[in-house]
Amino acid sequence: MVEEDFKVPGSKEEAEKRAEDLREKIRYHDRKYYVENDPVISDHDYDMLVKELEGIEKKYPDLVTPDSPTQRVISTEIDEFETVEHMSAMLSLDNTYNHEELRDFDRRVREGIGEEDKKVEYVIEPKIDGLGVALFYEDKIFLRGSTRGDGRRGEDITPNLKTVPTIPLRLSDETVLETAEFRGEIYMPRDLFDEMNERRKEEGKEPFANPRNAAAGTVRNKDPSVVAERPLDIFIYTLSYNEEGDFHTHWECMKEMKKAGLKVNTHMAKKEGIERVIDYIDQWQEKKEDLNYEIDGMVVKVNRLDHHDKLGSTSKHPRWAIAYKYPAMRKTSTVKDIEVQVGRTGKLTPIAVLEPVQLSGTIVERASLHNEDELERQEVNIGDRVLVEKAGEIIPQVVKVTEKKSEGVFQLPETCPVCGSEAKRLGDEVARRCLNANCPAQVKQKLEHWGSRGAMDIEGLGPKVLDKLVDNKIVENIPDLYRIKKYELIMIERMAERSAQNLIDEIEESKERGFDRVLYGLGIRFVGDHMADVLAKHFDSMDELIDAGEEELLQINEIGPETAESVMRFFQDEQNRKMIEDLKQLGVKMETEEEERFEQFLDDKRFVFTGALDEYTRNEASELVEKFGGRVTSSVSGATDYLVVGENPGSKLENAREEGTVILEEKDFKKMLKSKEPLG
Ligand code: IVH
Repeated sequence: MVEEDFKVPGSKEEAEKRAEDLREKIRYHDRKYYVENDPVISDHDYDMLVKELEGIEKKYPDLVTPDSPTQRVISTEIDEFETVEHMSAMLSLDNTYNHEELRDFDRRVREGIGEEDKKVEYVIEPKIDGLGVALFYEDKIFLRGSTRGDGRRGEDITPNLKTVPTIPLRLSDETVLETAEFRGEIYMPRDLFDEMNERRKEEGKEPFANPRNAAAGTVRNKDPSVVAERPLDIFIYTLSYNEEGDFHTHWECMKEMKKAGLKVNTHMAKKEGIERVIDYIDQWQEKKEDLNYEIDGMVVKVNRLDHHDKLGSTSKHPRWAIAYKYPAMRKTSTVKDIEVQVGRTGKLTPIAVLEPVQLSGTIVERASLHNEDELERQEVNIGDRVLVEKAGEIIPQVVKVTEKKSEGVFQLPETCPVCGSEAKRLGDEVARRCLNANCPAQVKQKLEHWGSRGAMDIEGLGPKVLDKLVDNKIVENIPDLYRIKKYELIMIERMAERSAQNLIDEIEESKERGFDRVLYGLGIRFVGDHMADVLAKHFDSMDELIDAGEEELLQINEIGPETAESVMRFFQDEQNRKMIEDLKQLGVKMETEEEERFEQFLDDKRFVFTGALDEYTRNEASELVEKFGGRVTSSVSGATDYLVVGENPGSKLENAREEGTVILEEKDFKKMLKSKEPLG
């Protein structure tokens, strides 16, 4: 049957009604077919529905709605993914590798919620080995989807996610949810991955190494019509924001999300007490191989949501969930060669080049030998047979020599393999380092870090371009980036003029990223993105930070002696000072914006919290206190200034009374934050 055979209703009004009716039918069948795996009509009948809808939309283009099933694939390529800020941080999970660590986790949970002698109810779910994404719906319509990125900012990949048939473009009418954010894992089913790879081989294309790489590569492809042809799928595992509904447990959220037409995993279980959790996890150790998708462990989550609030999170992981990783796969291989890599800080790392082996789905050809001490301990040399392990996302490593085939131990060179300067072990460090701060290997990696997404986000400044820039001595340090001329790029890179201009523009724009990103980009030891944020909130500008003494740094709650010393050392270095001065002259912004600056009115006051707060999670409350210059500690002592009391306070209240600490109810606490004046 051809399209024209369908009768498009004569009046526009009727057409609109019919279109809506068709969309609802198609949505229903999509859900039956893709999400529930339980189709109720034939493919042919389904195709007819779609064709009829396409006919109507062709005749009346203004009747097309964004959630219409015909809108899954757009044909225009994406120029560049926009960066989007997440509604709340997309944290990752802390890992455990054995039963004891799970019991420790359970102990911490019970202590944290103040129910030491009770069994906690947990939900256990497979840990899908894919790619975390966030999906935002407004008034039931799928509005935006993004990658996890660095946890705070990701990339807007909406057009690509719209092609995934198991992501509904509209939430079902059965759910109360309308405006909400969901998080889940994009993956590629094993069977469809294999089929796709077979096809690629036939077409003379490079096959993907494993389903995870394939999914990750696909999701960020700039051409949604290519994405549409690749078999992506999703499991949703978190309701991260909702304006409707009032849920008390994670289990309830999962049920509601299923109702909404989202795909949630069917192998979830609810168990009371950690021993039952462990049993369940053990059952899946073997069974997991039969699944049609790859999992690298199980996730254990506290079921009650009020307990999530009470437990809060560290800057990286929630305290109410943990991942259990099944033992890694190990195989033997032969060391064909040992290469020495030079890292950003000059560290020399020996890398074993291996006879390729297949390890949990990936072909492993290189594995880390860590450092000199490890080489000695394992007595590895070229030619030996070794046991190789790949654990999750960590780079493969050599575990031990299984058959010694060559004499002696591989020696790390005493000069840098890249620049030839002296390579030494300093103090009691295990690492041998190239001591030349201008070593091209170090410079390239420093520049790469500076341009990375969490730092100055300079698209187009990849390793290839950097190799040429540094090897041709156009760029020898970070400030040089801001001095590059367009013709230099065209000459050395044989870049098209437009790409050269784009890169120049990107570099120019990066000047405005802000103080925190600059701090992170400098690559100071122990200053990751979170610490950079902490420093930028505390100091108004680079000048203030440089002028600060160790004392002042140590006053900041999250900064320990190691970090303080590292920061001090960095800014005492002549070359670093000059670099910062140059960057400033070149127009790189190094001040905290007015609105990001907070009056430090809590001036080192010490806070303790007890009981559940109504309006904030523990974490949020602590962050507020720290933002305004206060400190949070876990128990009441003579030094405590305030005890903030929520519902069901614990024994801390008694202690505070004894110590004569100022006791604040939540409303007083709120008032204080609002008035910006300390109470009591
Ligand atoms: S919950 C706050 N549940 O594993 C963390 N994550 O390192 C919320 N993942 O980034 C994550 N399966 O991308 C959760 N059933 C599951 C998961 C899962 C896979 C991924 C996720 C996360 C990473 C943890």
